[in-house]
Amino acid sequence: MIQNAAELYIAVQVLMGISLLAFLAGYFMRKKNKNIHGLLGLTGVLFNLVGAGVLVYYVYAEGILLKNRLPVLFAYLHRGFAVLVTLLMFYMAYTGITKQREKHIKMHKLFLIGYIIVYFSGMIVFHG
Ligand code: HEM
Repeated sequence: MIQNAAELYIAVQVLMGISLLAFLAGYFMRKKNKNIHGLLGLTGVLFNLVGAGVLVYYVYAEGILLKNRLPVLFAYLHRGFAVLVTLLMFYMAYTGITKQREKHIKMHKLFLIGYIIVYFSGMIVFHG
């Protein structure tokens, strides 16, 4: 399906972009409707996992490499932050599902800001 780095770059940005929009929409619904808030959060997780799966599959199984726009150090920093934010994403889903309200609320700003930074830094650090 995906033939080259330009297509892979777009596919990952679109999938992760939908994920980010779902998290933002869920954030705005947090007080209005808890069920919709949770569903949007889980939608964000789903699109993140599909995006990460597509990226890992095409890089490691198909050998399509995204080129660096900046020195390679920035690519490592982006990957490191992406892993931390992914762990935080699972933590948010877990504390949300198990209704551990205090823990869930404590980490939400760090998660959301971290996710936004990882999304846009990916756009800047790599190109198709
Ligand atoms: C990933 C899946 C998620 C699920 C299943 C989920 C679920 C929930 C649930 C059930 C509550 C109500 C807790 C209670 O009052 O007992 C809640 C509250 C809350 N969630 Fe989530 N959540 C998710 C993701 C997120 C994300 C991504 C954010 C923000 C980045 C977030 C921020 C909040 C906040 C701030 C509240 C408190 C709302 C209030 O003031 O009452 N949640 N969540």
